[in-house]
Amino acid sequence: MLLTFLYSCTGGAALLYVLYRWLIPAAVQYHGGLALIWHEVIVEPMLDTLTQSTRPQRLLSAVQKNATRGDPCSVVKAIDQFCRSKEWAMNVGDEKGCILDSVVSELNPTTVLELGTYCGYSTVRIANLLPPHAKLITLEFNPDFAAIARQVIAWSGLEEKVQLVEGASGDLIPKIKQDFGVQTFDLVFLDHWKDRYLPDTKLMEACGLLRKGSILLADNVICPGTPDYLEYVRSSPRYESQYFKSHLEYTKVEDGLEKSVFLG
Ligand SMILES: C[S@@+](CC[C@H](N)C(=O)[O-])C[C@H]1O[C@@H](n2cnc3c(N)ncnc32)[C@H](O)[C@@H]1O
Repeated sequence: MLLTFLYSCTGGAALLYVLYRWLIPAAVQYHGGLALIWHEVIVEPMLDTLTQSTRPQRLLSAVQKNATRGDPCSVVKAIDQFCRSKEWAMNVGDEKGCILDSVVSELNPTTVLELGTYCGYSTVRIANLLPPHAKLITLEFNPDFAAIARQVIAWSGLEEKVQLVEGASGDLIPKIKQDFGVQTFDLVFLDHWKDRYLPDTKLMEACGLLRKGSILLADNVICPGTPDYLEYVRSSPRYESQYFKSHLEYTKVEDGLEKSVFLG
């Protein structure tokens, strides 16, 4: 009787583990909504409670354990490994990250604005490719994420090139010229909450932060999606816009980046 009970408990626990570790993650790989619910609404709070830490803190620990100080590529690799083998996180990720890299390398920008820092993954990718004396300003309104990002950026040795500013994009964009001495941006990477892409683009236009030839590169235009922004940049005569098809970070769900050249 006791033996049967013990067998049932062990079998049940093993089944739950297989479901949690492989079956559900494999199933949600193909569905954006389910993937986000599984990783953000179910797994993240559960692990936060079990480990008494946050996902960004666990990501930082993985960087400190597996990446070499002063080596940005090893920082990016450590984060990608953590997100593929341990926990999904909302970085632009390795696949779309390659598209981001090629846009940055081709443009060779000296002034870059990033909207949405999170743990600093894309910040490190961009800053690592910038020429000497270039400046990347990255905005993050969550102070806990900003604190982690500062440590990730410092670990990669790129803090000289990056200015992380804490606050909401809608409040900070109008102050950029005056407070940070940048007149216009060569490149803007939009990767904050999706309902802010369009209002912040219009705000950057109104504040004169875009010049003829400035490039807006927007992440997650398909998943979770930014339909109002896409409609705007694709139909406005002020932009020439191009879609780069890819996948939602660390999944097989379609997502992509929209590159839009401001024509003035
Ligand atoms: C998708 S994550 C950014 C990921 C990051 N770019 C990367 O690839 O590593 C979005 C981040 O934007 C921040 N955010 C959202 N809306 C914002 C706003 N209006 N102003 C500043 N930060 C914002 C969130 O707190 C979150 O950390």
